[in-house]
Amino acid sequence: MKQIIAIYPGSFDPVTNGHLDLIHRGCKLFDRLIVAIARNPEKDSSLFSLEERIEMLQAMTAEIDNVTVDAFEGLLMNYCIEKHANAVLRGIRAVSDYEFELQMALMNRKLEPRLETVFMLPGESYSYLSAKLVREIAKLGGPLAGLVPPLVEQRIRSKVS
Ligand code: PNS
Repeated sequence: MKQIIAIYPGSFDPVTNGHLDLIHRGCKLFDRLIVAIARNPEKDSSLFSLEERIEMLQAMTAEIDNVTVDAFEGLLMNYCIEKHANAVLRGIRAVSDYEFELQMALMNRKLEPRLETVFMLPGESYSYLSAKLVREIAKLGGPLAGLVPPLVEQRIRSKVS
C-alpha cells in the first residue's frame, strides 16, 4: 500500500504549542511526518540557532513514532522530492494566514505538480499564537505559560536573560 509521507516545513523559532498541536494532528493523518526546519541565512534575526531548534523539536516529538525532525536548505519542493514526500502540511490559524499560504501552495504546485499541500487547523486556543509574538513577549519579559512547552520556555528565558 502507498505510504503517505508529509513534510511540515517552517522556521520553528521557537516551536510553540500551536506547532505541536498541528504535529499531533498531522501524525494521525500521515504514515510519516517529517518536521523540516528551514535554514534561512537571510533571517539573521533568529532567536535560536538551527541546531537549537532541531534539539527542542526532537525533545518535544520524541514520543511520536512516525515523526522525525530534519533541516533543509533551498527550495522546499527539491527537499520534498529528495525525501519522496507526497504532501506538505501547513497550518492555517485565521483568514489572515490564507492569502500567503494560498500563494505559497500554488507556487509550490507550479514547481512540483505531484505534491499536494494539506492545510489543517490548529486548536482554536492557538489561533492567535505565533513564534514571532512569543519572541517579542520573551524579549519584553512577559509570561509564556501556555504558549510554549516548559522546556522551550526555560531555553527562551536563558537566551534572553
Ligand atoms: O514558519 P514559516 O516562516 O511560515 O515557514 C515558511 C517556509 C520555511 C515554509 C517557506 O519560507 C519555505 O518553504 N521556504 C523554503 C524556500 C522555498 O521553497 N521558497 C519558495 C516557496 S513558494
